[in-house]
Amino acid sequence: MWDKLCKHAAAVKNRRFETLVDANRATDFSASAGDMHFDYAKTNIDTDGRALLIDLLDEVDLAGKRVAMFSGSAINETEGRAVLHTALRNLDGGPVLVDGADVMPEVLGTLNRMEKFATDVRSGAFKGQGGKITDVVNIGIGGSDLGPAMGVLALAPYHDGPRCHFVSNVDPADISQVLRSCDPATTLVIVASKTFTTIETMTNARTAKAWMGESVSNPAGQFAALSTSEEGTAAFGIDAARVFGFEDWVGGRYSMWGPIGLSMMIAIGADAFRAFLRGAQDMDRHFQAADWAENMPVMLALVGIWHNQVCGYSTRAVLPYDNNLSRLPAYLQQLEMESNGKGVSMDGEDLSINSGPVVWGEPGTNGQHAFYQLIHQGTRVIPCEFLVAARGHDDDLHHQHQLLVANCLAQSEALMKGRDQDEARSKVAGKFDGSELERQAKHRVFAGNRPSITIAYPKLDPFTLGQIIALYEHRVFVEGAVLGINSYDQWGVELGKELATALQPIIEGADASGKDGSTAALVGFLQKHGV
Ligand code: F6P
Repeated sequence: MWDKLCKHAAAVKNRRFETLVDANRATDFSASAGDMHFDYAKTNIDTDGRALLIDLLDEVDLAGKRVAMFSGSAINETEGRAVLHTALRNLDGGPVLVDGADVMPEVLGTLNRMEKFATDVRSGAFKGQGGKITDVVNIGIGGSDLGPAMGVLALAPYHDGPRCHFVSNVDPADISQVLRSCDPATTLVIVASKTFTTIETMTNARTAKAWMGESVSNPAGQFAALSTSEEGTAAFGIDAARVFGFEDWVGGRYSMWGPIGLSMMIAIGADAFRAFLRGAQDMDRHFQAADWAENMPVMLALVGIWHNQVCGYSTRAVLPYDNNLSRLPAYLQQLEMESNGKGVSMDGEDLSINSGPVVWGEPGTNGQHAFYQLIHQGTRVIPCEFLVAARGHDDDLHHQHQLLVANCLAQSEALMKGRDQDEARSKVAGKFDGSELERQAKHRVFAGNRPSITIAYPKLDPFTLGQIIALYEHRVFVEGAVLGINSYDQWGVELGKELATALQPIIEGADASGKDGSTAALVGFLQKHGV
């Protein structure tokens, strides 16, 4: 199938896809889920190409794999675990069995406990030594940070609880800056770590406890923990009443729907958090029910496969025209790159096609004034993924929102159409002539024919954010299934962790002679300058 796809891609490579884009194509090459609309008409995928892409799904038995995931089979085979983040938003669904036991009573019980605690923090029923909680500090990294940090920012217009801060980096600059802005007597610290062993998080948690202990008589009383490790949280001294647990079938980068979302729930309240879960559940249902060609996560994944594995475009830019989604690219970097950055297939063979792409991006319109130059005129093609809401949150400034939307649509149009030499010449005619006119015009030519997709929605509210994140999660699942990899482990991050542990004593003065010349020289330089 890959051969057929590559042959097809080669045959249509030089076609200008804008010639395909009429009103029918806009309907045919788009998908809807609830109020969300996904347009992939501005790509070079045609009916034949799409049919070949869809054939890939049958070849890998995507339907069977989807059932396996939702029903709790241990599809994370290298860790022997189920992959059931969907259970965390299965608010009114049926039982979900892991090893024959229904996990839903525990999931819903924990959700209720979180809601009670979040409500108490927000109302002041839960207090710090100095009174009502004014600040929440979430200490976590990777999936224990990026989800709630992105979500709190995305839902800023709904934020009516205490201020929320996120500390992730072991760099002391991160925690010092946050703690400086908080009063320990009215601060709640949430230690978010699935394993409760991650060195950055545990180091920052101890620093926060010491900071609080300087002015609060019972610092552990103002700590909560989000973790699968009961022993770890108990050893840290956190009362079990404020420990919110989850099971190992929730991967770190898929965990914001459960306890890891506690800071977000405290920020926006339990009802809004439930709306966020409902949005995701809505996308889950769509993903399970819609035909492949109408299925938004499936088609988003196939567009990704087309651009990355078939056409060879190695990066994709995520460009939200929604400033509150400014951390979405960082969130998706972990979701997509930690999931599908794998070079070995499920059967232990080297992958014969490219692994997932590099994901990067920034909100529009800011990116336009920074790196879009390369997207429009650079020599490499970068497929762009635009996100845009019909309405913002400030009705009095709706004219600014309209300008934002105009910019978003203008970019995908410019990428597709480009500007040829004739048009470029007409822009500078009168200023230059002869060969200088040609030379000047050439610099103003845009090749165009550059693909993009657009995800549009009415407004970025909690429900919509849930839809968006679940959409991307399922896209990762489909891309991983087509590539034949395990999207749910992350062995590639282990080596660096082991070497950092081994290097720490060397940095502190132990003998560096066993190290390679470059590392030893760098240690020497940093020691000379006081490390
Ligand atoms: O090192 C990678 C990783 O394991 C991520 O997958 C995870 O999200 C992050 O570290 C944090 O892990 P934990 O929640 O266990 O502290």
